[in-house]
Amino acid sequence: MVVKHKEEKAFFVYSSILLSVFLFLMIKDMRAILTLNLNLFLTLFLIDLLFEWIEIPAYKFNRGYVATSAGFIVNTLIAAILNPVEASLINASVAIIPKLTKAFFGERSPFSRYVFNFAQIGLSSYLTSFLFHSLENENYLLNIFVILLCGLVFFILNNFFMIIAIYILSGTDVQELISKVISGPVLGSALLIPVIAVIYILYVYMGFIAIPVSLAVVFSIQVGNFYRYKYYEAKLEHLKLLVKSLEEKDEYTRGHSERVAELAKKIAKRLKLSPRLVDRIYNAALLHDVGKIGIPDHILKKPSSLSKEEISIVKTHPEKGEEILKEVDIFRNRESRWVRHHHERWDGKGYPDGLKGEEIPLPSRIIAVADVYEALRSNRPYRKALSHDEAKRILMNEMKGTVLDPRLVDILLEIVEEEMRPEEVRV
Ligand SMILES: [Fe+2]
Repeated sequence: MVVKHKEEKAFFVYSSILLSVFLFLMIKDMRAILTLNLNLFLTLFLIDLLFEWIEIPAYKFNRGYVATSAGFIVNTLIAAILNPVEASLINASVAIIPKLTKAFFGERSPFSRYVFNFAQIGLSSYLTSFLFHSLENENYLLNIFVILLCGLVFFILNNFFMIIAIYILSGTDVQELISKVISGPVLGSALLIPVIAVIYILYVYMGFIAIPVSLAVVFSIQVGNFYRYKYYEAKLEHLKLLVKSLEEKDEYTRGHSERVAELAKKIAKRLKLSPRLVDRIYNAALLHDVGKIGIPDHILKKPSSLSKEEISIVKTHPEKGEEILKEVDIFRNRESRWVRHHHERWDGKGYPDGLKGEEIPLPSRIIAVADVYEALRSNRPYRKALSHDEAKRILMNEMKGTVLDPRLVDILLEIVEEEMRPEEVRV
């Protein structure tokens, strides 16, 4: 509890420092606001607000989430069209309006989050606008490069402030943060930087009308992305729910997939796989037995041993799981294949394809190790849960190098034993 409090305190100090720097810059330049064109100001304000409303969560962590939107295109354009004070005033206020509205309807965030969002977008906008107006010149071609540079600078500043914030709040390794925060939707939005230059060219030729017209196109793309994300999230949640309800029916398997997924994630991390791959392995492990939905209950829950025919029915679950995951776009190529092979054996005697050694995809071998260990450590209708030492003995004597990848068995035991150590000290 004390640690959490410390993190929030540190974050509040960080946000306050950003806010102080931002306010100092604003006050220093306050006279610039006298040139304000109110119509232009309000139009840009409304466009900015529209974009800010549709955001896509890109990275979730224990104390919040990072969202991405095409809003930074608008932020950069505003930084180029208006002076630093006006631009940062619009962008910073718009950055917190959707959150304040949510707070009004009961979805509150800690106060420091509003301060942080206001200050970091304000600062990023101020510095970007200052850079644009310092480098802007008569040569219109050169200005295209200047605006591209500004788009990049805004993107980098924005993510820089964000990564420090998540680091303070969650303590996650910075390298992991950079690769996680920057990958996926965030990097996808960086690809929109050239769009800023195109809109700017249109603006120079056509005047202000080019801004709302071209942004309407970008906005429709963003709406499309938003619903694609919602669709993917809904499908994933649906599958997770399917596995959960399948496990809930049986006291012996309750929570099994979640524990397997946690273990698989730790093994994948230990192998230094990319954070994105670690996430994919986690999801595949969570859904590895989803194919059991196609196996009749009287076989799955049979307390006595299964007949040959029943065993062959149970053995179809990896293929059934593959079929189900193929229905989800982003699982079609990899996760579905990993789930298909999670019962292959290192010696080639597994199913469904009898793959051997490294022919078996690494994620499937990781899931297999986690699955076997987790099953040994859980109660079963025919035996009580084994202790770690008993499970270790079975893994080492009967599974390592025959059923399971020997290297992964060692890694799994290393991880589990490391986690047990502090417990032993406490005892
Ligand atoms: Fe399975």
